[in-house]
Amino acid sequence: YSLRTSNSFGVDAIARHFASFEDTESLEDLLSVVQQSPLHEQEKLILGGGSNVLFTRDFNGWVLKNDILGIEELHEDNEFVYVRAGAGENWHAFTSYCIEQGWAGLENLSLIPGNVGAAPMQNIGAYGVELDDVFWDLEAYHLNDKAVHTFTLQDCEFGYRESIFKKKYRNQFVILNVTFRLHKHPVFHTSYGAITQELEKMGVKELSIKAISQAVINIRRSKLPDPAVIGNAGSFFKNPVIPKAQFNELQILYPEMVGYALPDDRVKLAAGWLIESCGWKGFRKGNVGCHEMQALVLVNYGNATGAEVFAFSQEILDSVAFKFGITLEREVNIY
Ligand code: FAD
Ligand code: EPU
Repeated sequence: YSLRTSNSFGVDAIARHFASFEDTESLEDLLSVVQQSPLHEQEKLILGGGSNVLFTRDFNGWVLKNDILGIEELHEDNEFVYVRAGAGENWHAFTSYCIEQGWAGLENLSLIPGNVGAAPMQNIGAYGVELDDVFWDLEAYHLNDKAVHTFTLQDCEFGYRESIFKKKYRNQFVILNVTFRLHKHPVFHTSYGAITQELEKMGVKELSIKAISQAVINIRRSKLPDPAVIGNAGSFFKNPVIPKAQFNELQILYPEMVGYALPDDRVKLAAGWLIESCGWKGFRKGNVGCHEMQALVLVNYGNATGAEVFAFSQEILDSVAFKFGITLEREVNIY
């Protein structure tokens, strides 16, 4: 089964088996079929929209696509509404639905590709908001003990592009649904400079969640490549976090270096700036390239293999380490 159309990088890789499931029962049926395949073919990969994966090899096991749908308003109080969405719901469609209902909290996360079920994986974030700001809980199926577990906010151990599912419980749980706690009376997040500029450009007089969502959509369209046109998985690396003392030393050599102060004496650097400073922005090597508008995004110009993209990312990693003494970490899930 070719995975080419199942990943936004558009690289080709062959999965030995591919199947999708629509609910917990059909997942369980599928897992009993998986168990009947030869032992060496029982490796499993849970796939959502495929917008944060890079396949560097063929997959000699089962790719299981999560197609669990459904949006349900669970309950509400004076301030909040609790909304549950199936893991297979498209993220942007879900955010748009909530905005239509007047439920606030997801507007800054508009237009992020992929599905609801993958959002907790890396605690998706954009324009000053992260998933954990609106996350209530989730249900996940454990592939070994075959039971459904509930994870609260604390259980998920969310961090910047991190959660318990990305490292410690990697490939152990299937996220079935996610419940969000959304505001009935909006709290606007416009601290990200680009949003205020865009709202001004749009001529917005009265702030609303719809206007913020539209501003975010405009900004994203202006600099992020559309995977339908050119293969990519968004930011390929994370923005590195370093001690303030190290940042101060680097700033002596590179006064233009971009950094945001975090609590506890640390600074988050813009990986895009580091990569651009090494001369990669807009650089193309065969089928792979570093996007001309956003150096943090690697692109597939058509026929790149996952291995080529990975090798290209290693060259970038090495050059940033050589120049700045900082080791970038890949954000994309490598298989
Ligand atoms: P997939 O790529 O299918 O899966 C990602 C990982 O999650 C894999 O390891 C997979 O095994 C696991 N997984 C998926 N679904 C489940 C499930 N139900 N249960 C258990 N594990 C699961 N991300 C941001 O945070 N902010 C951004 O601003 C952003 N911008 C992007 C822009 C572009 C153009 C692109 C292409 C990507 C961007 N991303 C961004 C990355 C991506 O959109 C997110 O990581 C998204 O959550 C991935 O969803 P998906 O369904 O496509 O996941
Ligand atoms: N920059 C450069 N050159 C570049 C790109 C960026 O110098 O080519 C510098 C600029 O100074 C800019 C700063 O980096 O002001 C920040 O750039 P941008 O606002 O584009 O954000 P980012 O840090 O590059 C992060 C996320 C994005 C998210 C945006 C908006 C990570 C790894 N990436 O990018 O998430 O959409 O902020 O909040 O944290 C993703 O995860 O796939 C993703 C796209």
